[in-house]
Amino acid sequence: MTQITVKVARRTQEALDIASFELVKPDGSALPGFSAGSHIDVQLPGGLTRQYSLCNDAAEQHRYRIAVLRDAHSRGGSAAMHEQVKEGDTLAISEPRNHFPLVHAQRTLLLAGGIGVTPLLCMAQRLATAGADFALHYCTRSPERTAFRDEIAASPYAGRVRFHFDDGEAAQKLDLDALLGEPDPGTHIYVCGPTGFIEWVVKTAERFAWNKEQVHLEYFGAAPQDTQGDRAFQVKLAGSGATYEVPADKTVVQALQAHGVEILTSCEQGVCGTCLTRVLQGECDHRDLYLTDEEKAKHDQFTPCCSRAKGPLLVLDL
Ligand code: FES
Repeated sequence: MTQITVKVARRTQEALDIASFELVKPDGSALPGFSAGSHIDVQLPGGLTRQYSLCNDAAEQHRYRIAVLRDAHSRGGSAAMHEQVKEGDTLAISEPRNHFPLVHAQRTLLLAGGIGVTPLLCMAQRLATAGADFALHYCTRSPERTAFRDEIAASPYAGRVRFHFDDGEAAQKLDLDALLGEPDPGTHIYVCGPTGFIEWVVKTAERFAWNKEQVHLEYFGAAPQDTQGDRAFQVKLAGSGATYEVPADKTVVQALQAHGVEILTSCEQGVCGTCLTRVLQGECDHRDLYLTDEEKAKHDQFTPCCSRAKGPLLVLDL
């Protein structure tokens, strides 16, 4: 994928533990266009790659804005952004990709949990510009942990936004049963946030029999995986003809590494595509967020840092 070098033009503390970074081309030229819901991969100091949603107006060409939560449980990505990235630094990023696009709908419901507001903010701007009917419900732990609160309050769509604080009075908390209680075929729901928040929305929508196609979701980083049913399988390398066992509790990358076969990795959670490997035979059990559904259906490539085999054997173009 094409790499773009950008400069950190501005860093802003948006809320407690949340900083935004405004990224521009060093020569001030236009950046590749993007649509609401897009993300970029950012190569961080220390070699990690992380995926961040763009949270500025998609009509802007001069900048990308991302926001990063400092997460004590993260594997280093958020700490690297918070501690090491300053204004004036340069970063390598990917072109924007969109796995979370807006579809045309009579009405749109945006449900944000914490830092999950980032792609939804971009969607709210887009929908407001288009004069569309929408509402944004933004749930956070407390007002001081609510990024972009002033910006939203000053925006032309402020009247369409409701804030819900965990530490606030019961009356202002999000009543999801009331909101989703009557499925409406003309409404599309977009949810982004921590796993628990997404599951709450998805399960509530299921309970009220919303059509699955009307509920769109985006996880942060890797989607949660159910690894309980994982089984061992074999991979054969087309080049050498050697076959290796991938145990149930190891990834393909780890299993091959144990035999001295190195595959280049970066995120190790199926978001960056660095480890993408061609598959010549066998059916993949895709676990990544990188490939599109159409790409996955072809079973001719997979991400061995997290994806597995559905059958007993995969033949890899290695
Ligand atoms: Fe990033 Fe595999 S290393 S997708």
